[in-house]
Amino acid sequence: MYRRSFVKQAGTVAAGAVIAPHLLTTSAAKKRIAMVGTGIRGTGMWGTPVVQEFSDLVEFVGLCDINPGRVQTAKDMLKLNCPVYTDFDKMMKEARPEILIVTTVDATHSEFIIKGMEYGADIVTEKPMTTDEKQCQAILDAEKKTGKKVRVTFNYRYAPHRQKIYELLRSGLIGTITSADFHWYLDVYHGADYFRRWHRLREKSGSLLVHKASHHFDLLNWWLQSEPEEVFGYGALEFYGKNNSFRSSHCRPCPYKSQCRFYWDVNKDPELVKLYVDNEKYDGYHRDGCVWKEDINIFDKMAVQIKYANKVQVSYSLTTYSPYEGYRIAFNGTKGRIEAWIREKQPWDEAPYDEIQVTTIFDKRELIRIPNNEVGHGGGDARLRKDIFNPDGKDIYRQAANSRDGAMAILIGIAARNSIYTGKPVRISDLTSLKPLDKLS
Ligand SMILES: NC(=O)c1ccc[n+]([C@@H]2O[C@H](COP(=O)([O-])OP(=O)(O)OC[C@H]3O[C@@H](n4cnc5c(N)ncnc54)[C@H](O)[C@@H]3O)[C@@H](O)[C@H]2O)c1
Repeated sequence: MYRRSFVKQAGTVAAGAVIAPHLLTTSAAKKRIAMVGTGIRGTGMWGTPVVQEFSDLVEFVGLCDINPGRVQTAKDMLKLNCPVYTDFDKMMKEARPEILIVTTVDATHSEFIIKGMEYGADIVTEKPMTTDEKQCQAILDAEKKTGKKVRVTFNYRYAPHRQKIYELLRSGLIGTITSADFHWYLDVYHGADYFRRWHRLREKSGSLLVHKASHHFDLLNWWLQSEPEEVFGYGALEFYGKNNSFRSSHCRPCPYKSQCRFYWDVNKDPELVKLYVDNEKYDGYHRDGCVWKEDINIFDKMAVQIKYANKVQVSYSLTTYSPYEGYRIAFNGTKGRIEAWIREKQPWDEAPYDEIQVTTIFDKRELIRIPNNEVGHGGGDARLRKDIFNPDGKDIYRQAANSRDGAMAILIGIAARNSIYTGKPVRISDLTSLKPLDKLS
């Protein structure tokens, strides 16, 4: 039996809905917000749209970046009157924000999250919350000590397709979930971009197991409503970095432009020119770094096995030089299987919907279609912004992520990274004071 159904909006109310703590539920006055890290994510996700959509609720009182040119550019782009800073402490003392948005390079998040709370602000931080287990513990301790709150912005949870998967998993249709297969493909454009930028250095991004895969691990934790117990990983760098016969510092002066398939002209993007090229003189950072640089020290292929506290076993992989971009996910249960796949930006595959297939044992197969016409991470970005700055106070799909969620997502990546170096499985409970829960409530 084969049936197709079309879902207009992702889902009805999920069972077990909870009221989430939000940062902006009570005060009628405008909240004072500040941002540290005014790059593309800061300005594009938390700058311009917040000014445009929530100016009646929040007011920027300061912007900070280590690059004086970029922070001024950001202020101009956002059309703000607030002061700009290159000294974070000065901003926190003078501007006294109630909410601090952290959008710096990953390995610096913990410094600003912790200091921000000590200065009295609640935190909205981009993923990954931080990049190693020590910094993770320090954030958890600071949150307890200060009584302030950390919100981690897992926008992927908010895309309608993924929300529908969450709902189907909760419905009991496939029985008890026993295992999952999750494979993520970054293509030679988006994937390569991680190897051009600061992400290429483990000491800045924690590797893609933390920087990128923590998004995916968070989805798993959220979909399964359980926490990871043990992790084993493999990883290698076999395509980018040292694996080529020629290289340069960055694309613009490169003598191999005509023969390099990865040559990329940053000057074609006026926004990137304003933010990065025009401000190179301050920090020497090249947005168009060479993907063949020998200092690249992250893995470009990764495989991870995860055992959850609720006994679910997961096989995960991340590939960074795929011909197309997307992912495949499948959940196996005692009564059936839920599978979903996304292929992004393919000229030969422009269906206005994404599908989820539900197959029940000895029974039937159903294809569910979810419209995919929303921009900004499948509509996740706009929904997340609304949930942070103008929440309805319900959070029926448990999408609001706190510091524990932020920790559990990165701890899988950190454990996998540690496992790759030692060749041994890593127990999550050995990394921080957090003990994995089999069921989230
Ligand atoms: N959720 C998502 O889908 C998503 C998408 C993109 C980026 N991100 C996250 O957003 C963050 C920013 O990413 P981006 O792409 O905008 O990077 P970026 O390089 O464009 O911006 C980072 C900014 O931080 C500044 N900075 C670095 N160290 C600093 C310090 N010590 N003090 C003050 N400023 C400092 C840099 O000068 C830069 O302007 C990252 O943590 C990234 O993981 C999340």
